[in-house]
Amino acid sequence: MPSIVIVGAQWGDEGKGKVVDLLAERAQVVARFQGGNNAGHTIVHGDETYKFHLIPSGILDPQTTCVIGNGVVIDPGVLIAEIDGLRERGVDVSNLKVSANAHLIMPYHLMLDHAGEARLGKLQIGTTKRGIGPCYADKAARLGIRMQDLLDEKILKKKIMAALEPKQLQLRPFERDPALDLQSMTEQYLTYGHRLERHIADTTSLLHRALDDDRFVVFEGAQAALLDIDHGTYPFVTSSNPVAGAACTGTGVGPLDIDEVWGIAKAYATRVGAGPFPTELEDDLGEELRRRGGEFGTTTGRPRRTGWIDLVALRYAARINSMTALVITKLDVLSGFDTLRVCTAYEGADGAVFETFPYHQTVLHHVSGRYTELPGWSEDISGARSPEELPQATRDYLRFIEEAVGVPVVLVGVGPGRDQIVWLGERSPLLAESR
Ligand code: IMP
Repeated sequence: MPSIVIVGAQWGDEGKGKVVDLLAERAQVVARFQGGNNAGHTIVHGDETYKFHLIPSGILDPQTTCVIGNGVVIDPGVLIAEIDGLRERGVDVSNLKVSANAHLIMPYHLMLDHAGEARLGKLQIGTTKRGIGPCYADKAARLGIRMQDLLDEKILKKKIMAALEPKQLQLRPFERDPALDLQSMTEQYLTYGHRLERHIADTTSLLHRALDDDRFVVFEGAQAALLDIDHGTYPFVTSSNPVAGAACTGTGVGPLDIDEVWGIAKAYATRVGAGPFPTELEDDLGEELRRRGGEFGTTTGRPRRTGWIDLVALRYAARINSMTALVITKLDVLSGFDTLRVCTAYEGADGAVFETFPYHQTVLHHVSGRYTELPGWSEDISGARSPEELPQATRDYLRFIEEAVGVPVVLVGVGPGRDQIVWLGERSPLLAESR
């Protein structure tokens, strides 16, 4: 039975949730391994639309166990609100298991995220201001509060005290904020602990058992390769590793437990927040793409920056993730453009050409895309369900991408509905057998 890691292949918001949701139908376990409520997944199930920030997309399937792994950072208030929201809509959440080792986002992390961005001024990263970076920083500094600490009042208070102390200076403007009171913070988090206790589990053992029993496990990545703290466009990145390797560290399984890595990419490119974006369209065409694609953040509502598909970045993402398959989403958004451009190389200010992703930040900030023009298609493809129903120009566009990236396209998204997909090649029968 396969275990598959789903990763973002661009700058996030590629539609990973939809793919995970689709696979969850056949999967026994879906596990998130990094990030926090900076992520946002929109899932359309029939007439219902669900938005998740923390809970794995598989939750809508009652037979799927959903794991929030040790590598995820959790704002417990947000998690509880998501659980309550799902319960109110009649969704069974008893199969949600949260790692006892996952770190918690605390009120001071949110304040530090806001203060840090304000201090950076024009140089700001454009974070989601959910406290993600400061929480991972505390984890690395060994000052983090973990899920399991919520179950022991004495330990919780001691750990909050130790974590708060070094922050007093940084948070001087918030000194009198009641949210920073040690006693009330401890009490609030103990209440969270009572609410979440039934979900807290040894998720590493749970995953080992599932893999040993040959279950189909899906590892759900958040954010994307180019936002990776080590391999992305640092410092304009998130504070975790959204690449496939982190599925291991973020859940406790080994590299050989992973059979496949699927990279999800939009048929064009978007980015939220600051940082280099070589194929960005800052003109009417970019605005048109934003409008057609509904490119506004699920988490922050910010308009996303838009551009042509970037095959230099995609090749790089394929390599750092050991991608075995590509999924191209939102292909329907490109219907109606006479000509489509695909970026196959970068050109520096001095005319230097880059066919591989430049490692140097300054270089990357100054490159622009070199494009191949491909014919567009005018047909509405949102009703297509098989490759034959796609216009030739659409198939040629997909073939160009897979040849340039060197990874087969197995699945295409042609609309927001969960049935609006086209399987290419052999993959669909393999997954159909999996339950
Ligand atoms: P942070 O993860 O909130 O610290 O934000 C760091 C950078 O990652 C910012 O540019 C965010 O816009 C970006 N980012 C974080 N999460 C997502 C996501 O789920 N989709 C797209 N961009 C994201």
